[in-house]
Amino acid sequence: MTSVATPGLENAPTTHSRLLAWVAEMAELTTPDRVVWVDGSDEEWTRLTEQLVAAGTFTRLAAKPNSFLAQSDPSDVARVEDRTYICSVDEADAGPTNNWMDPAEMKSVMTELYRGCMRGRTMYVIPFCMGPIDAESPMFGVELTDSEYVVVSMRVMARIGTAALQALGEDRPFVPAMHSLGAPLEPGQADVAWPCSTTKYIVQFPEERMIWSYGSGYGGNALLGKKCYSLRIASVMARDEGWLAEHMLILKLTSPEKKVHYIAAAFPSACGKTNLAMLEPTIPGWEVETLGDDIAWMRFGEDGRLYALNPEFGLFGVAPGTGWDTNPNAMRTIDQGNSVFTNVALTDDGDVWWEGMTEEPPAHLTDWKGRDWTPDSDEPSSHPNSRFCTPITQCPILAPEWDDPKGVPISAILFGGRRKTTIPLVTQARDWNHGVFMGATLSSETTAAATGAVGVIRRDPFAMLPFIGYNAGDYFNHWVETGKSADATKLPAIFYVNWFRRDADGGFLWPGFGENSRVLKWVVERLEGTASAVETPVGHVPTPASLDVEGLGMTDEQVEAALAVRPEEWREEIPQITEWFDKFGDKLPTTMWDELEILKSRLA
Ligand code: PEP
Ligand code: MN
Ligand code: NA
Repeated sequence: MTSVATPGLENAPTTHSRLLAWVAEMAELTTPDRVVWVDGSDEEWTRLTEQLVAAGTFTRLAAKPNSFLAQSDPSDVARVEDRTYICSVDEADAGPTNNWMDPAEMKSVMTELYRGCMRGRTMYVIPFCMGPIDAESPMFGVELTDSEYVVVSMRVMARIGTAALQALGEDRPFVPAMHSLGAPLEPGQADVAWPCSTTKYIVQFPEERMIWSYGSGYGGNALLGKKCYSLRIASVMARDEGWLAEHMLILKLTSPEKKVHYIAAAFPSACGKTNLAMLEPTIPGWEVETLGDDIAWMRFGEDGRLYALNPEFGLFGVAPGTGWDTNPNAMRTIDQGNSVFTNVALTDDGDVWWEGMTEEPPAHLTDWKGRDWTPDSDEPSSHPNSRFCTPITQCPILAPEWDDPKGVPISAILFGGRRKTTIPLVTQARDWNHGVFMGATLSSETTAAATGAVGVIRRDPFAMLPFIGYNAGDYFNHWVETGKSADATKLPAIFYVNWFRRDADGGFLWPGFGENSRVLKWVVERLEGTASAVETPVGHVPTPASLDVEGLGMTDEQVEAALAVRPEEWREEIPQITEWFDKFGDKLPTTMWDELEILKSRLA
């Protein structure tokens, strides 16, 4: 092996033979100057953040303790869905919604990209665990990366370092997650602040439970424990093992009578999951606590109920629109420091700012591209997909049971999207299969969380379109089967919500944010059988009197418009749903066609 010459490969802090062999193989291929085993310590964080400041990648924030601003290359700002692949052995297993390439062909393409790609850089070995390390079957991964930004961000987002490596032992399984910026340095070549490549690949090999990422340093493209592992790879594991890996927040809701319900909710990226997870109820006596804001792994407990666990350790939230009025708990979380901000603006006193943080913008800023900015500037100060990356343990309303390895029992699942018309504020599914139909047909306007146009309506089933690691038809079937295998009386009730419906003048019909507690209240009262509903062709919708709008100042007409089921709008959905379902051919469970028939006949 030629790799014996690479400093750091010898005397590795592990005897895990598969891990050692893989690290040696990847070091030999990518030829870094050295290999560093990440321990996750404070000293390491200090050393790497100082290095990132010296490299110009980070600006230390004078106004927040131990916090940094990164400005990325303007071309590397979001997940790249058109460069994301599910490389299953059989193309049919990637399904109609994923990009696919033969795994052997993809490996040969990427092996040539990886050859020598870490020249002049350090290869970091990041042992990590998604979910608690003391779980019965801890979910290990190891990310190799040549990005210090990725190392420090992974330390916020996952349980990393020595504790994970020790628990991995000599032979426990792990998901190999290979990442490179694709920006080798020649001897004497000066580095740039945000190295990356114009060629990008974000690749999952589902059968091997393996991830290869190349060319991007940003978010879900590069922090491989998040979307790549905990959703795409985990969804495949979940299919094979009978559980669910979902794009859902988890919250705890306590009523004035001190009854506790846990709720999971799926929304597409940048549709307010973090805001809902940290909501401050506006109705007296109700309390929300946070367990997770992006991912839920759900398994049946011995009592037959569905238990959810957040596998992450941090929050990677969309910054714009997060403010003291919309999400004060997120503001309190980041104010404690220990955070990395990416592509937001810098204030003159060394703090961060973004659109929506305060009502009045500061008189002068340095924008996310490093230019002078004033309220008269033509462009926003922050990229619409700019992010805060912050430890979840700093959240002041974190539920103490958030890291219980067995999870929390879920009473209700909400699906939601961003729709100007058609979809009522809240609708309860008649039963599990109807709820699966709601999830399978979920639609939303696109956002800045992925590259591409913003505001285009697309089907985003279960808010998982970019994250289902296999054929989406099989995924719908897995949801149907999950319901069949369970005691129906113990399954969570399913609801479809839409905070984004507009009136004829384009204004929002519902105030959203903390007022969404009123919808959560109705949900809980439905579970307890105390709220009334009207049965409509699309499910159970609140009677205007059953929704608590006291003190909101909404007229009866406005409440009715927010809740309205307009058959003419729904009839327009039918051909779109039919076209969507046709994509899946034989893979679509027949129950989904049955549900569509029920909808059609109820609308007739
Ligand atoms: C990302 O974009 O990198 C990300 C973490 O997630 P999302 O798109 O769901 O906000
Ligand atoms: Mn997400
Ligand atoms: Na987009």
